[in-house]
Amino acid sequence: PITVALILAAGSGSRVGGDIPKQFRPVRGKPMLRHSYEALSAHPSISKVYVAIGAGQEAEAFAALHGLPAAIFVQGGATRRESVRLGLKAIATDGDADRILIHDAARPFLPSTVIDDLIKALDEAPGAVPALPVVDSLSRGDQNLSETVDRAHLWRIQTPQAFAFADILAAHEDWTGDEPTDDARMLMARGGQVRIVPGSEALNKFTFSTDFAGSTMPSFRSGN
Ligand code: C5P
Repeated sequence: PITVALILAAGSGSRVGGDIPKQFRPVRGKPMLRHSYEALSAHPSISKVYVAIGAGQEAEAFAALHGLPAAIFVQGGATRRESVRLGLKAIATDGDADRILIHDAARPFLPSTVIDDLIKALDEAPGAVPALPVVDSLSRGDQNLSETVDRAHLWRIQTPQAFAFADILAAHEDWTGDEPTDDARMLMARGGQVRIVPGSEALNKFTFSTDFAGSTMPSFRSGN
């Protein structure tokens, strides 16, 4: 089967702040997007890597991926879901894809073992996600805690999320629900099974400005 990847890099990164969207900001000496692009484009099972970017982000995206195997840029949308939907439609038009990994650029550190596990899991189900068990206590409440939530069988779901291409494309085209935070939920809404493979703390999402603290290498120091 032909497996492709779609990296979502069309967000504005409003919760992080700053002048440039978080996916182009440096993390460990490279623009954030470059890290996961390298991992996906170097993986032997992935034949093409598409990158969804927003209008006006072309220069930053090109610069972020300078010198790497050429990315295929697709136009993102106003929401994450819309970026995925537009990306899937562009991929369907571009050529053959049997399987797809959909990944957030905001999760730069992507172990190749996670990619291996996801692709293997697709032999048995139309969807697969990396996830970690919840280890903290969980509770509902406003000012005060009101109700404890049993954390057994609860998972923190990460990306990449892997799918049979036709199934996730149909899920996006038919979706009429509210704004989902991930794609697996849309497959599940159609009755598609989603396997869990071991996630990684390395895959945690960069969401707030504090997530960047200590991760920006002084790679542009003058005088050396
Ligand atoms: O904002 P959040 O962290 O949930 O975004 C997750 C990923 O989705 C990010 O990599 C972001 O760039 C991407 N995104 C997108 N198009 C949007 C909004 C978010 O590609 N309209």
